[in-house]
Amino acid sequence: MAMLEVRDLEVYYGMIQALKGISFDVEQGEIVALIGANGAGKTTTLHTITGLLNAKAGKIVYEGTDITRIPGYKLVSMGIAHVPEGRRVFSSLTVLQNLKMGAYTRKDKTEMDETLKMIYTRFPRLEERKSQLAGTLSGGEQQMLAMGRALMSHPRLIVLDEPSMGLSPIYVNEIFDIIQKINQDGTTVLLVEQNAKKALSIAHKAYVLETGSIALSGDAKELMNNDRVKKAYLSE
Ligand SMILES: Nc1ncnc2c1ncn2[C@@H]1O[C@H](COP(=O)(O)OP(=O)(O)OP(=O)(O)O)[C@@H](O)[C@H]1O
Ligand SMILES: [Mg+2]
Repeated sequence: MAMLEVRDLEVYYGMIQALKGISFDVEQGEIVALIGANGAGKTTTLHTITGLLNAKAGKIVYEGTDITRIPGYKLVSMGIAHVPEGRRVFSSLTVLQNLKMGAYTRKDKTEMDETLKMIYTRFPRLEERKSQLAGTLSGGEQQMLAMGRALMSHPRLIVLDEPSMGLSPIYVNEIFDIIQKINQDGTTVLLVEQNAKKALSIAHKAYVLETGSIALSGDAKELMNNDRVKKAYLSE
């Protein structure tokens, strides 16, 4: 049994069908990338998994539990954290206050302090800037904060929507490095990216979404060499 099983998922916005029955698996310990063009349905998929949208048909099973109808706030305490597209941090709160908001499901203060320490090790810049207002951080720093905040809930599965969007190449590399390290620390990662090249380079497995359907799937390294993927997603 995979950690996350998505089966025949169908999602509509009114009359428009955004997901046309997609199925995929995320095994524990993996980085799984979901790639695809604008409007393919990547964000819709993540929002349905994290309880922000309702499926019309199909199901989502996480660690053996059917979570298809479980709301987002409950999923956090079940170990699923979501870093949405556009890195929404609380601008008028400090970095540290933002991080603490991510730990609202945690009760043990000592454990929370340990997690905070781990996050500062992964993101030294957040520690340097812990008293700075989040709204004044650079785009890359805000992405780090959004990821750090999600990690404060100590998730077993982290779901990332376009973490590299709008970042300069240096930050892109740094963010992908950190994703890999988070995974090596034991967190399973479901990653949505337009930067297919980068995503495939760190992922174990990948799925290609085209207008609401899975068009291709397989080992990430194999997909990197697939002619159709190269032509549609990897050309500069
Ligand atoms: N709230 C909404 N109401 C109506 N249609 C929507 C809504 N949100 C998304 N859609 C449509 O659903 C389809 C899938 O959108 P989605 O945001 O999942 O794409 P995406 O793959 O994340 O794209 P991008 O790479 O641009 O972020 C698109 O055609 C989009 O216009
Ligand atoms: Mg999107």
